[in-house]
Amino acid sequence: MTNSWKKYILWFAQEHLDFRVAEFNSIIKLFGLKHRKLNDNTLKPFWIVEFANEESAIKFASRSVSLRSIYELWGHSNNLKSFHEKLQDSIKTKENLMDPYIQKSFKIVVETYNKHISQKEKVEKIETLEYLPFQGEVDLKTPQTEWCYIEFYGLDPTAVPSEPDDILFGRLVANGQRDLIKELSLKKRKFIGNTSMDAQLSLLMVNQALVNNGDLVLDPFVGTGSLLVSAAKFGGYVLGADIDFMMLHGRSRPSRITQKVRERDERVRANLEQYGCGDRYIDVIISDFSNPLWRQGVEFDAIITDPPYGIRESTEKVESKTTSKQNTRSKDMPHYPSTSHYSLQQLYVDLLQFSAHHLKVGGRLVCWLPYHRDDYTSEMIPQHSSLVLVGNSEQPLSGLTSRRLLTYEKRDINAPDSAQLSYQLSNSYDFRDRYFNNAPESRTERRMRKAEQREIGRIEALKRGKVIIDNKEAKNNLNKSRFQ
Ligand SMILES: C[S@@+](CC[C@H](N)C(=O)[O-])C[C@H]1O[C@@H](n2cnc3c(N)ncnc32)[C@H](O)[C@@H]1O
Repeated sequence: MTNSWKKYILWFAQEHLDFRVAEFNSIIKLFGLKHRKLNDNTLKPFWIVEFANEESAIKFASRSVSLRSIYELWGHSNNLKSFHEKLQDSIKTKENLMDPYIQKSFKIVVETYNKHISQKEKVEKIETLEYLPFQGEVDLKTPQTEWCYIEFYGLDPTAVPSEPDDILFGRLVANGQRDLIKELSLKKRKFIGNTSMDAQLSLLMVNQALVNNGDLVLDPFVGTGSLLVSAAKFGGYVLGADIDFMMLHGRSRPSRITQKVRERDERVRANLEQYGCGDRYIDVIISDFSNPLWRQGVEFDAIITDPPYGIRESTEKVESKTTSKQNTRSKDMPHYPSTSHYSLQQLYVDLLQFSAHHLKVGGRLVCWLPYHRDDYTSEMIPQHSSLVLVGNSEQPLSGLTSRRLLTYEKRDINAPDSAQLSYQLSNSYDFRDRYFNNAPESRTERRMRKAEQREIGRIEALKRGKVIIDNKEAKNNLNKSRFQ
C-alpha cells in the first residue's frame, strides 16, 4: 500500500460510548493501520482521523461496529463563513483531486446533529454549496458518488447553540458494520437462552479480541454461543464449553415466551449455519471450567467469554472432594456428581490463570466483570503478571449495577505461576449476594411496599364511593350495561 495521507471524517453511532476508543485502538492494531488522530473529544460522534491511504480507511470500516460511515474530508470549520471559504479554497487548490468525481452522478446528504431541521431547510443548505464543480446528474437512488454535509450542534440537547460548533463536508468512502447488528439480531436467532449476548456487544467483544480470519477462538462459558457467532462471522474457527448439558443439547426451557418446546435442531451449530458460517464451527463440549480439560501446549488466538454472574444462571462447579458418607450407589445407577458454588473471585482466578497458559503470545482474553457500582475501584480489576490490561469499558446495567468489558493481552514471558496472580476483591465480596440482598430495598420489601400502596388506594377509592367488583360476571354485566 502506497502512502498518500488524507483526512477522514469518522461518524460514530452515539451508543456504547465507553467502548468506542477501545474498539478504534483494537482495529488499528488488528490491521496495523497507520493513522494520526486529530481531535481529542472522543465523545463527539464525528472524529477527524488521518490515514496513510484510502485502503486503511476502508479496512477500518470493514470491522468497526461503532462506526456509521467514513468520509474523505473536504471541508471543516467552526463557523459557517470560514467553512465555505475553506471548502472553495480547497476545491481550487486541490482541483485535480476533485477531477475523478466531477462527471459522476452524485447525491448530497445533509445531517444535523442535536438539531432537527425540515426537508426544505436541508435543500437550502445544499444550495449554499452551489459552487461545487459537479457536472454529473443528481441521482438519489444509486449515485456514483455520495457526499455529506454535516452540522454538529454539540452534545447537550438542553443547550443547542444557534450556530453549529462544527461544519464538515466529505465524500463517502465506506459504511461501518452496523448492518451486522441487525443481521445477527437475537430476535431472529435460531437458538437463544436467557443470557444470550446481544449482537452489538458480541461483535465489539470480537473486535476487542482481534479475531482474524483463521484464528482459533474459545468461549469456556459458551451458553447458546452468541460470542462464537460473532467470532465466526469475522473468520474465527470456534470452540465452546459449558457445564450445562441441557443448554448445550438444546433441551433447556425455551426463552421465547411464544415457544412451548425447543425445536429438535436448536444448537450452537445451527446458529452458525443460520449465518452462513457453519464451516467455522469446531465443536462445543460439556465441561466444568474449574476442572479444565485442555492439555498443556494447546494455544488459542483468543478467549472471549461472559462468565456466569449467578443472577440469571447458576454459578456452579463440580465437587471433587471425597466425602466420608457411605457410597450407596450400585454399579448400574447413573452417577450425578454433586456441585458446589463457584465464586466469581475463584472463577476469575481460574480464567486469568487458564488464559495465561493457553493464549498464544499477543493473544487476547476478553471478558465481563459485573459489580455493584458503589463498590467499584480500579483495584477490583483482576490482574495477572502475564496479561496486560489493554481495555476496560463500562456498561451500566441498572441504577446500582454495571459490568466492565475487560481486555487482556498475553505478554511475551515464560509460563507464569499462581503467585503472579493478584485479585483485589476481598473474599467476602459476592456479586450475587450484593445484587439480591444489599440493595437499599430488597425485592420482597419492594413487593410488600407496592401491595401496601395498592391497599391504601383501594380503601381510598371505597371511601370515594367506588364500587369494587371482584366477580367476573358482575364486571361483564356492568360493561354490557355501559353500551346499552
Ligand atoms: C452468562 S452465561 C453465557 C451466555 C453466553 N455468552 C450466550 O450467549 O448464551 C454463562 C454460562 O456459563 C455456564 N457455566 C456456569 N458455571 C460453569 C462452569 N463451572 N463451567 C462451565 N460453564 C459454566 C452457564 O451454564 C451459562 O451457560
